[in-house]
Amino acid sequence: MTKQLLLLPGDGIGPEVTGQVRRVLDALDLDIETGEALFGGAAIDAEGVPVSDETVARALAADAVLMGAVGGPKWANQPYDKRPEAGLLRLREAMNVYANLRPARCFSALADASSLKRELVEGLDIMFVRELVGGVYFGKPRGIEELPDGERRGLNTHQYTTSEIRRVARAAFDLAKGRSGRVCSVEKSNVMEAGLLWREEVQRLRDQEYPDIELSHMLADNCAMQLVKNPKQFDTILTDNLFGDMLSDEAAMLTGSLGLLPSAALGEPGKPGLYEPIHGSAPDIAGQGLANPAAAILSLAMAVRHSFGDERAAGRIERAVEAAIEGGTRTRDIGGEATTEQMGSAIVQSL
Ligand code: NAI
Ligand code: MG
Repeated sequence: MTKQLLLLPGDGIGPEVTGQVRRVLDALDLDIETGEALFGGAAIDAEGVPVSDETVARALAADAVLMGAVGGPKWANQPYDKRPEAGLLRLREAMNVYANLRPARCFSALADASSLKRELVEGLDIMFVRELVGGVYFGKPRGIEELPDGERRGLNTHQYTTSEIRRVARAAFDLAKGRSGRVCSVEKSNVMEAGLLWREEVQRLRDQEYPDIELSHMLADNCAMQLVKNPKQFDTILTDNLFGDMLSDEAAMLTGSLGLLPSAALGEPGKPGLYEPIHGSAPDIAGQGLANPAAAILSLAMAVRHSFGDERAAGRIERAVEAAIEGGTRTRDIGGEATTEQMGSAIVQSL
């Protein structure tokens, strides 16, 4: 059956990198129908809102949504609902994409660009599964309050329910089955109640339904340390919204460049996923043909794998990106002089 992909190019380098995604799609010749909509600053300028109701409806009706990047100085100081980022949060919420997959893979041709020594990162292949729509970023009560003694208090609530924990743990276990089968669950159960519940529920789900998964638990501060000490000990890391935000950024720096890292946000099985490179709109290089399209193209590979169920085509895209880089075609962020277009061409050729 024809799969529906909605492209949201967005702002800055977003349209440049999604343009190369289109070329890869054309070269693959899969049964995919591609639509496109305005998003972020581009949508604010044309439609007055960062994401229109119509675009949200189209996203929910698609099989997968691939976003380029949003944001830029033009919209940075606007009220929140007139900011591009508000569109992204609205879309994530509407799509209920609670499991954020962020791979940190180190291409051996680029191991010297890592923040760590080559031998520590060569062959690195970690998959983060970060809870994306709960925890301390969303918990209520929240706010800044005036106290009677003239002090003010900033307040956030860190909370998770069993169902929120179990659904994201299930996503991690299912994913790990197709990898090494090893999952490390990360929290601070020694000092946080939601962390303690997290540990108990993750272990319970493993014991009840996933006997073949090799599950370990680690405290988040130790994990931060282990990621720079011996990152190759990890395969799949399951963690909450807050720790996942930080630990996956830390791990991104082990791999070399922002321009190479894709991500996926998944909801209930069968519902559309939201795919995007982890980088932003890069206003400093936008419009100059300097952006690396690899992160966006690898995001397409994740969409093909997780939303279209075509593991073979996903692997083909990933190998083509790796081959293009190994063949010496590199944009500036990974030490070369190729343009966005040339990088896209090399990837299409490897396909
Ligand atoms: P950024 O990721 O856009 O850029 C950081 C640095 O990395 C820049 O020097 C940029 O040139 C470089 N870079 C990023 N992607 C690249 C690529 N594909 N190829 C080559 N070089 C690349 O982050 P920054 O500068 O903090 O934010 C710029 C704008 O993007 C802001 O408005 C921010 O809010 C937005 N942003 C949007 C995100 C999204 O759409 N999900 C995520 C992060 C930031
Ligand atoms: Mg972050």
